[in-house]
Amino acid sequence: MKGVILAGGTGSRLHPLTSLLNKHLLPVGKYPMIVYGIERLRQAGITDMLIIIGKQSAGLYTDFLGSGSDYGVQLTYRIQEKAGGIAEALDLARSYMHPEEKFTVLLGDNLFKEDLGPVIERFKQQPPGSARVLLKKVADARRYGVPVFDPERPESISKIEEKPENPQSKYCVTGIYMYDTAVFDKIRQINPSARGELEITDVNNCYAAEGKLEYDILRRYWSDAGTFASLQEAGIKMKGLLP
Ligand code: DAU
Repeated sequence: MKGVILAGGTGSRLHPLTSLLNKHLLPVGKYPMIVYGIERLRQAGITDMLIIIGKQSAGLYTDFLGSGSDYGVQLTYRIQEKAGGIAEALDLARSYMHPEEKFTVLLGDNLFKEDLGPVIERFKQQPPGSARVLLKKVADARRYGVPVFDPERPESISKIEEKPENPQSKYCVTGIYMYDTAVFDKIRQINPSARGELEITDVNNCYAAEGKLEYDILRRYWSDAGTFASLQEAGIKMKGLLP
C-alpha cells in the first residue's frame, strides 16, 4: 500500500507565520509538522509516499526531507499550482497509483498518535470501490466535516456535513482517508463548492450515498494543527513520538 500526504493549501489561519513558511514546515516540537505524517505512515508499514506541496517553500521540502531515506521511506513530490481544494490536490496522485491500488491519504496538518496499522488491515478487507475514514470525538464539531449516521446501518456513514451550524453528531471526520483508485472517478463527478474548491467531503459523500463509506474512531490524541493554539498544543502532545 502507498501513502499520500497533502501539504498544499495556503494556511491562512496561521498568518503571518505562513507568509514566511508553508504550514507543514512549521515546527512541532523538534521536527517540521510534515515529518509526523511520514512517521505515522512508515510505522504502519507504508514506505512509498507521494507528498503534494504548493509552490511556496517547495525547495525546503527537498532540502529537509531529501529522498526520505533518513526517515526510512521513499518520497515522491508533486506540485499543486493553486490551492484548489483537498480533492484537487488528491487528484494529482492519480498517475502515482497502479490500477485498483489501495492507499492511505493524510492531510499534512493532521497530527495524531494512533497506530494506523490495524485500521489499514480492516480497510484491506473491504470490497473494491469502497472507502474508510477515521472519526474523532471533538468539543466543537462545527469546525469540521461531521458524519451523520443511519441507525439502521450503523456500520457505515450515511452522509457528511461540512462545517455545519448544527452538527448531527459529536464526531468530526479527520483528515485520514483510505481509498482505492475508484476515488479518481469520484473526483471527476464533483463540482467546485461555494468557496471555489473541490471538497473532499463531496467525494466522501459519493461513497456514503452508495453505502460504501466505513469508519473507525480514533481513541488517542488527534488535532488539525491549523490554529496557533492547536499548533502549540501539538508540540507538547507529540513530544517523544520521534527520537
Ligand atoms: O482536519 C480535518 C478537516 O479537514 C475535515 O474535518 C474537513 O472535512 C476537511 O474539509 C478539512 O477541513 P479544513 O478546513 O481544515 O481544510 P484545510 O483547507 O485547512 O486543508 C487541510 C489540509 O489539506 C492542509 O493541511 C493542506 C491540504 N490542502 C488543502 C487545500 C485547500 C491541500 O493540499 N491543497 C488544498 O488546495
